[in-house]
Amino acid sequence: MTTSAELVKQLDAVGFPAAPEVVVKLSQLLHTDWVTAEQLAEVAMLDAGISARMLRLANSVYYRGRGVKSIAEAVLRVGIDGVRDVVYALSLMRALRPMQFAYRPYWRHCLAVAQTTQILQLRARKVAVPSTELHAAGLLHDIGMLVLDRTLGVGYGRILANAHEAARPLFEVEREMIGTDHADVGARLLEHWKLPDQLAQATAGHHDPLFGATPTAQLVYLADFVCNRHAVHHGTAYRPEACVPEIWDALGIAEAELPDILIEVDASLSKADAILAAAS
Ligand SMILES: [Fe+2]
Ligand SMILES: [Fe+2]
Repeated sequence: MTTSAELVKQLDAVGFPAAPEVVVKLSQLLHTDWVTAEQLAEVAMLDAGISARMLRLANSVYYRGRGVKSIAEAVLRVGIDGVRDVVYALSLMRALRPMQFAYRPYWRHCLAVAQTTQILQLRARKVAVPSTELHAAGLLHDIGMLVLDRTLGVGYGRILANAHEAARPLFEVEREMIGTDHADVGARLLEHWKLPDQLAQATAGHHDPLFGATPTAQLVYLADFVCNRHAVHHGTAYRPEACVPEIWDALGIAEAELPDILIEVDASLSKADAILAAAS
């Protein structure tokens, strides 16, 4: 059996996967207030598979679309930000496929966290973060799991099984067994990909929201809690009882709003499911 020391050695030899070109290009546009349909089409066309999936989604029952044949038409149906978020998600989902855990619950969790950060932002009275940055940060927050999956192989399967059996947070078991966790490894990947700093910072801080965490990291932390609590988790079946209580005040959201937030999260899951269906 592989020991923890051997897993650490494997991790030291980590070879990061290449960045999907579409993700890099769209990340560079994260803070551009006005992206045109032509710019989006240009980026989406870098990968014919992505454009085809985007059109399938725009024509789906969820978007009540019919006869949408181009990205420009998809923008009319879905909206600029909607197309940008979905192209980003489809590109990540296509590039990185896990081996030791299931693709569908993992990406459903990431899509749900991305959508939930935006739901929370609308209620947060103390912080303001651009919605597109939040969506990207939510999608990427657990990306380190995919790196650990590729690097450690069956060793990572053992870590996941331990977390599952003990019903413990995955990052705690990772820290015990390999001395690091998917938040740290994910942030290193995003730095390696040269994505905007705020995305790496949000990924690094998504389990520790109080100590130097950015507002984006705090929103991702709370969205992650809400989704896990609501059983939209990445497959380890861990359902946290409570979050760090100070986070509500830090963001300016009343804890009493949680039932209403959960209703909105539930409603948004059909969008996540439509994206998953188009991606496959
Ligand atoms: Fe995580
Ligand atoms: Fe997560």
